[in-house]
Amino acid sequence: MLELCNLTRAYELGGERAGVFGVSLEVPKGCLAVLAGPSGSGKTTLLQLAGLLDVPDEGEVRLEGQAVSALPEKARCDLRLRKLGFVFQAFNLVPVLSALENVMLPLQLQGVAEEEARHRAMRVLDRVGLADRSHHRPDQLSGGQQQRTAIARALAPDPLLVLADEPTASLDHAHGGPFLDLLAELALERGITFLVASHDPAVISRAHRVFRLADGRLVGEDVP
Ligand SMILES: Nc1ncnc2c1ncn2[C@@H]1O[C@H](COP(=O)(O)OP(=O)(O)OP(=O)(O)O)[C@@H](O)[C@H]1O
Ligand SMILES: [Mg+2]
Repeated sequence: MLELCNLTRAYELGGERAGVFGVSLEVPKGCLAVLAGPSGSGKTTLLQLAGLLDVPDEGEVRLEGQAVSALPEKARCDLRLRKLGFVFQAFNLVPVLSALENVMLPLQLQGVAEEEARHRAMRVLDRVGLADRSHHRPDQLSGGQQQRTAIARALAPDPLLVLADEPTASLDHAHGGPFLDLLAELALERGITFLVASHDPAVISRAHRVFRLADGRLVGEDVP
């Protein structure tokens, strides 16, 4: 489903070279994959390449067998909107919108009519257990509920691939496990592929596949 082929993205800053170097990995459809590794090992850099938010210096990103990283910005933007979902550490919910309106947003950006967007957004919120919080604004939701709103927003457009950068980092420890259990259910139910950057042991232990990074290189791959 997702193939990263020999990806290099180097940052030169103050004579120091950092980034990711020659990383190749493959995530099959419906797999819950975790990118693990210490701070600075290149997890976010790799997610940005996989999410077509950044372009590699060398190598290629392939989605469903199609080389996509070298496409023009407009085509990558269309792919992001239609096929990818994102969950960020800080969730990035729009503070003045309700949970429901936040989840409707990507659908409306795709041109889905308001009533249908509302209906689809409600269905996803219901799936993540937030039907009774749909009219709350982010500041009226707990951290775990904001996180589930963020995953609902990522899922609403029916993406093939969801990328999540440290999605449990701003929550207390008890949330990591249940959140990953939810992602594993969604992977199974809908065949969605997940690539999650994390150093949380509760997250890593629930992965179908773990890719270990160190100093920008892939140093191990396990199937727990
Ligand atoms: N825009 C940038 N300019 C220069 N160097 C950068 C830039 N972005 C990242 N780096 C460097 O690239 C390396 C990898 O960074 P990255 O953010 O991918 O790490 P990470 O594994 O996500 O770390 P963390 O767990 O702390 O989020 C680091 O050494 C970082 O300092
Ligand atoms: Mg990071």
